[in-house]
Amino acid sequence: MSTASFTVDPGFAVGAVDDRVFGSFVEHLGRCVYTGIYEPGHPTADDNGFRGDVLALVRELGVTTVRYPGGNFVSGYDWEDGIGPRAERPVRLDLAWRSIETNQFGTDEFLRWTALAGVEPMLAVNLGTRGVDEARALVEYCNHPGGTTRSDLRAANGHAAPYGVPLWCLGNEMDGPWQIGQKTATEYGRLAAEAGKAMKLVDPSIELVACGSSGRAMPTFGAWEAQVLEQCYDAVDHISLHAYYDPEETDVDSFLASSVDMLAFIGSVVATCDHARAKARSDKQLGLSFDEWNVWYLSGFHDEPDRPWAEHPRLIEDTYTLADAVVVGTLLITLLRNADRVKIACLAQLVNVIAPLMTNEKGTLRQTTYFPYAWALQYARGRVVDLGVVESEVYPIKAQGLQRELARNDDVPFVDVTVTVDAPNKQACVLMLNRDLENERELVIEWQAPVPAKVLRCETLTGTDLKAANTFAQPTAVAPRPLDAPAPGARMTFKLPPRSYTVAHLSTA
Ligand code: AHR
Repeated sequence: MSTASFTVDPGFAVGAVDDRVFGSFVEHLGRCVYTGIYEPGHPTADDNGFRGDVLALVRELGVTTVRYPGGNFVSGYDWEDGIGPRAERPVRLDLAWRSIETNQFGTDEFLRWTALAGVEPMLAVNLGTRGVDEARALVEYCNHPGGTTRSDLRAANGHAAPYGVPLWCLGNEMDGPWQIGQKTATEYGRLAAEAGKAMKLVDPSIELVACGSSGRAMPTFGAWEAQVLEQCYDAVDHISLHAYYDPEETDVDSFLASSVDMLAFIGSVVATCDHARAKARSDKQLGLSFDEWNVWYLSGFHDEPDRPWAEHPRLIEDTYTLADAVVVGTLLITLLRNADRVKIACLAQLVNVIAPLMTNEKGTLRQTTYFPYAWALQYARGRVVDLGVVESEVYPIKAQGLQRELARNDDVPFVDVTVTVDAPNKQACVLMLNRDLENERELVIEWQAPVPAKVLRCETLTGTDLKAANTFAQPTAVAPRPLDAPAPGARMTFKLPPRSYTVAHLSTA
């Protein structure tokens, strides 16, 4: 059996895990809001119309931050439509997703929902069809204490205290030809600088995220970030990255190596940010906000241009497989291993739309991707240990985009891993991946300190069928199972099943 090995020395840390990397995303898209988190009349709904079964699962998951209201939706959204008495709210066309938007759920409902879910809100402003004025007005509505028309309107709408929304996205994917109000980098950079300036004049405590490219494959990737930051570096705190990995665009070996692309993406954006910082002669280091990431069967998504207009149509309700769950796990490992720069990340999305949670009229379903996400959210806390190079056998992969990266990065290691150590709580977490489709692989961990004294939990997601999935008919077809853990101690050898993703939650007390 082939063995990978490395040493855990918490003296060498990448950085502290920012809890905001365990975020998610709720967009007015398909059934994410309507019949996802909000369904008045559902047997579990509370007085607000929030589904109690979904709220309970979101709390169980431990999601920290939720981005709202889009996505592409925000670029045509008038936030004023979604506040005030429900009966008076206008019904609009949502051009991003060819849907009828009733506005029965808006900013106040979302912020009430986040309070009940125990998550931090992250709001996006519309820089597609709108601009500086609306952006600063929304910050005033949400965060100003009172005594102005907008903040008093918030009080009249039921929330006297300011919401204190801490995180704000300056638009969404403004480089994309599909975006309503798409902009050139120069147009967007100026607008982001001015909108950001006005928003921070209303509330200097907020953090702002500028739009990076909508994907690494965009022809303007790199140049977009450089031009945008040239204009708005001083005004913003983070830049966004979005990445979706499509299982049907590539062979399985390459798909399981999707994190190679994510790693290269992060590296390029860090380099561009730091170049912009040098040019701006700034003391400030920008964070990366990976505010959309996931597996998405995008090549199978063909929306019809003449699809009939409807309220919350079923859109992008992908069913996730075991392979998809393993990839979500590897992407989490990659986000954590870059904890020094990745400060925010949102699994896109939370419910029904490319989501770990699904709903129907009767109940909820945990998709396969729920489990790796839940493990990281529950256990990966404290500081990420710098593992240096993990000694592992590698395999070659064929995918075009990845192959380009691999020419510079060698082949793909079968085994990947990250370790977090939460010293104050005397706990550690190991997230492990075995990409080998055929063979079990050993992973040897030498602990310098603290040495694990107890294995609190050791579970794996694996199976013979990488295409196995959970459905409402078979909700536990793919579920974690206990893995025989090694005895706790200075040297621990995990035996990772083929095609698997594994968590070990350890006590060091
Ligand atoms: O998450 C689905 C969509 O993907 C978002 O609306 C958009 O930002 C991205 O292109």
